[in-house]
Amino acid sequence: MIPTYNERDNLEWIVGRVRAAQPDAHVLVVDDSSPDGTGELADALAAADPHVHVLHRPGKQGLGRAYIEAMRWGVAHGYDVLVELDADGSHQPEQLGRLLEKTDDADVVLGSRWVPGGSVENWPWYRQAISRAGSAYARVVLGLGVRDVTGGYRAFRASALDALDLDTVHSHGYAFQVDMLQRAVRAGLDVVEVPITFVERERGASKMSLGIVAEAMLRVTVWSLTRRRRS
Ligand code: GDD
Ligand code: MN
Repeated sequence: MIPTYNERDNLEWIVGRVRAAQPDAHVLVVDDSSPDGTGELADALAAADPHVHVLHRPGKQGLGRAYIEAMRWGVAHGYDVLVELDADGSHQPEQLGRLLEKTDDADVVLGSRWVPGGSVENWPWYRQAISRAGSAYARVVLGLGVRDVTGGYRAFRASALDALDLDTVHSHGYAFQVDMLQRAVRAGLDVVEVPITFVERERGASKMSLGIVAEAMLRVTVWSLTRRRRS
């Protein structure tokens, strides 16, 4: 599942890398009507390759909404494993095998920058600081026992998604990743981390904003309080 918003300069490259690295896998592009024509390019790729599929959404509604729709599509079409992957090259398709390998004995596999062997390349210090601090904060207040809480390179066994109650996920940005993870942990699913090298994008712009960070901080804080009240 590759969510896209204005990724015209990255799409063909990333889809090609996934197809080369995992020839049996199918690719689903989930485009939010990108003004730059990413959606039309995705249609052209799908027309040329039966392993490529596209969902068009009416407007930019956030990463979380795009992934929920993609997951429903994947379950409805009978896929066994659903993988989240950014379009901008930060998640290397060549490392997808590491995640897929682990789905034999885990429900959720997290590509992790912050376990031994994991790393980031070309990420400015302030992005690293936000990510590390955010991960540490969420890990501690939510009791998640995982190093990379906000990462977006993940594999889910389709059979495990029912336990996450997708209908009630309302987070949009990075909070979505934390939300999915805490649901998996609370549901008692097997969650494992495998090291990845996250490579900062070279083309196109990040969609990260202060609002997205604020949403994540706020939601994590509220979740931690409701969790405390319940226990
Ligand atoms: N369909 C859709 N709709 N796609 C979106 C939207 C949206 O509203 N917002 C972002 N995307 C797509 C981008 O086009 C890209 O393919 C992917 O989601 C990630 O967006 P980036 O803007 O590149 O995110 P990032 O590099 O700042 O964030 C990465 O790090 C975060 C923190 O670890 C991602 O890996 C996130 O998943 C991760 O939470
Ligand atoms: Mn990115």
